[in-house]
Amino acid sequence: MAAPSSIRKCVIPTAGLGTRFLPATKAVPKEMLPIVDAPTLQYIIEEAVAAGIPDVILVNGRGKVCIEDHFDVAFELETVSAARGKEQDLNLLQSISRMANIVSIRQKRPLGLGHAVLCSQIVVGNAPFAVMLGDDVIDAEEPAIGQLAAAYQKYGKGIIALMEVPDDSTHLYGIAVGKKVDDRTYQLTGLVEKPKAGTAPSNLAVIGRYVLPPSIYGHLERQTPGVGGEIQLTDALAQLKSSEGLMGYIFKGERYDAGERVGYLKANLDFAMKRPELSGPLLEWIRQRVPHWEKR
Ligand code: G1P
Repeated sequence: MAAPSSIRKCVIPTAGLGTRFLPATKAVPKEMLPIVDAPTLQYIIEEAVAAGIPDVILVNGRGKVCIEDHFDVAFELETVSAARGKEQDLNLLQSISRMANIVSIRQKRPLGLGHAVLCSQIVVGNAPFAVMLGDDVIDAEEPAIGQLAAAYQKYGKGIIALMEVPDDSTHLYGIAVGKKVDDRTYQLTGLVEKPKAGTAPSNLAVIGRYVLPPSIYGHLERQTPGVGGEIQLTDALAQLKSSEGLMGYIFKGERYDAGERVGYLKANLDFAMKRPELSGPLLEWIRQRVPHWEKR
């Protein structure tokens, strides 16, 4: 079991419509699309749990109750598995329902990421908390959110995950600038959400892991719509930076953008290759197929 973290709660927005994965997401939430054989969201929650964060707050939306079901006890499946002596299945099912304390609340209108985080205030209350975005799947020896929680402890300020991205993709991210305080940590001096191509102040992109003080809620309450007409978390973070300071941390680990198709497929391949029972046959097949694919 992971050591308890000073951060006890993590907020995961799950109300998005997942339009980039239509038609798969017409009736199935994008968070439930599998990477190999587990829903994408399960990897995110496993990361929180591995970092010692036991309480998960899903900010959910209409038509997505199957997300809650996945982390609940599956009584029928457990009964059938037990009756058939399928102990491995039973253990797997139970490990998922026992994984974390999951609370689900609703974001009633799609007003943006900042608004989704604001919806969690009633459950989070007055303690520092983590925010994890389901589109960013991070494979790391030390859970990325645990790296941030440790840095939060050290610097005593809100801290957000950063990663260098190429010039031609800065417009897809929140972009940060700052003063380096150690190898991986920056004291942020600027933060802008999805700058227009060619105007980004740096290549340091915000990735979906944050550890924040509860004072962020006040800034979120005061936000007016920003980029895309949405209440942006980045805009509230920029306010937090000015009022009490904000750090950025270049996390250690491999990040997959599971919110778009190429990133999602890369995550599937890489995670499959880590499984000995899958990697052998898959690799052999890929080697045979590459010449055909290259001809297309
Ligand atoms: C969100 C944030 C953005 C961040 C990105 C990371 O954008 O608003 O600042 O860089 O996640 O994945 P989204 O990708 O949800 O549009």
